[in-house]
Amino acid sequence: MSLTLPVTAATGACSTLRGRDLLSIRDLTRRELLALVALAADLKRQPARYQGLLSGKTLALIFEKPSLRTRVSFDVALHNLGGHALSLAPQEIGLGQREAIGDVGRTLDRMVDAIAARTFAHETVEALAQAASIPVINALSNVSHPCQALADYFTMREITGRLDGLHLAFVGDGNNVANSLICAAALVGVRMTMASPPGYEPRAEVLQWARRHASTPQDACRVTSSPEEAVDGADVVYTDTWISMGQEAEAEERRRAFAGYEVTDALLDRAAPDAIFMHCLPAHRGEEVAAEVIDSPRSVVFQQAENRVHTEKALLLALLGSEE
Ligand code: CP
Ligand code: NVA
Repeated sequence: MSLTLPVTAATGACSTLRGRDLLSIRDLTRRELLALVALAADLKRQPARYQGLLSGKTLALIFEKPSLRTRVSFDVALHNLGGHALSLAPQEIGLGQREAIGDVGRTLDRMVDAIAARTFAHETVEALAQAASIPVINALSNVSHPCQALADYFTMREITGRLDGLHLAFVGDGNNVANSLICAAALVGVRMTMASPPGYEPRAEVLQWARRHASTPQDACRVTSSPEEAVDGADVVYTDTWISMGQEAEAEERRRAFAGYEVTDALLDRAAPDAIFMHCLPAHRGEEVAAEVIDSPRSVVFQQAENRVHTEKALLLALLGSEE
């Protein structure tokens, strides 16, 4: 039986992604990003339509750091599509220690259909992509978290009904999650404001990329040190941990630097009256977000987490599916 994707506008627009890597949101065009979001929406609406389309496909998930959402969402997504994912912990394969990164990539290339890797150094996921001809997905590196951004923009569109012209305020660290949100905002026309303490702003090259790719100057992320200024009138208020995985030694220094950057009810009240709160999770109540915010009806964090499954499915179908 030939397994073909249902021919919809969404899957058609995703066809340029077949066989490619997703190391960064910057690997996508605006059209591809919006097509992935549209495909995820259809997958969520009518999952039965896509069942079995990746029958026999296998994905190796490599983790150098812990994960709940990324690991489970890729596993469940591929299982629902008829394929099989296997998770490889650091002690199992010893990426770059027991064995050279390139040799791991070349070996998996012969055994599975795709690799998703969560690494400390972004160069590690790049080295895997270099070594393997199969699609390699960045499942979070120190630089970016493209799979999270896909789910986040899908969630924003699902809840607000639009992306173009939406105002997203990110309060906190200019980290991997922020970097991917900034690049995607430029592509889809979301106006993003970012409040970070001095020294913790997003990377300059990320901001430059966003400026170059934004369709209007307003769509390029604006950075301030004032959470109040960033949140003023926002439709979406987003935050993430102050201490990303791998930064544990800087924990105390970071907690001091980010004092005053907690998303509280008082801060959220400066946003639009129907503003939503987002967080990629895991969250730290009493640090980057107050319990009164994350546990309130304005918080959509678990819908956001669930949506990882739908966008992971869209991504896997786009990279591994076949269309006639
Ligand atoms: N948001 C996210 O990527 O969660 P995990 O670290 O649990 O995978
Ligand atoms: N910035 C966080 C995201 C976790 C999903 C980290 O890298 O730990």
